[in-house]
Amino acid sequence: MLNIVVCVSGGGTNLQAIIDGVAEGKIRNTKIVGVISNNTGAYALTRAENAGIPAFCVSPKNFGSREEFNNAFLNQLEALNPDLIVLAGFLVILPEKMIEVYRERIINIHPSLIPSFCGTGYFGLKVHEAALARGVKVTGATVHYVDEGTDTGRIIMQKAVEVLAGDTPEALQRRVMEQAEWVILPKAIDEIASSWE
Ligand code: GRF
Repeated sequence: MLNIVVCVSGGGTNLQAIIDGVAEGKIRNTKIVGVISNNTGAYALTRAENAGIPAFCVSPKNFGSREEFNNAFLNQLEALNPDLIVLAGFLVILPEKMIEVYRERIINIHPSLIPSFCGTGYFGLKVHEAALARGVKVTGATVHYVDEGTDTGRIIMQKAVEVLAGDTPEALQRRVMEQAEWVILPKAIDEIASSWE
């Protein structure tokens, strides 16, 4: 059984795709042992609670320093003893120690076809605004391992999505989520879990 912890900061639609994928058997041999958010208001926490999954909030606002937050976040992770950590819209710079301890065991979903429109400053709507500004005809999403860089780890899976005439950033974001993110993140987890003892 692959025990996973999902780290979230926002609405949690990617988390919901994972919850549904496990429930429907599309994601095999996997258990979501916990959800951690840095944002007390994240609807993703409600999605976890509704699914009976232990949900935790570790907010930087509750700590006097970055180091104290990092330690609390790492302690919460270790308490859940995950085999794999899934970053699903998690807008926090990971502690370096976390990347060392969980090397090749942290994956992230990014809403573009890396190496386009990624790296520092490219998150959420900004990614789609940049794709529209450049005039690309195809964009998509990428699941990759997380290393010390920003969106630089080994690519696991990608899925392309057509950009349509008249697309707004919001419309494009929704299409990329529906047609790519919510498809390849569960698929990538299932692939990892299928080869997990
Ligand atoms: C998604 O667009 C994802 O690609 C990006 O952050 C957003 C998270 O959305 N990393 P949600 O919280 O999963 O709905």
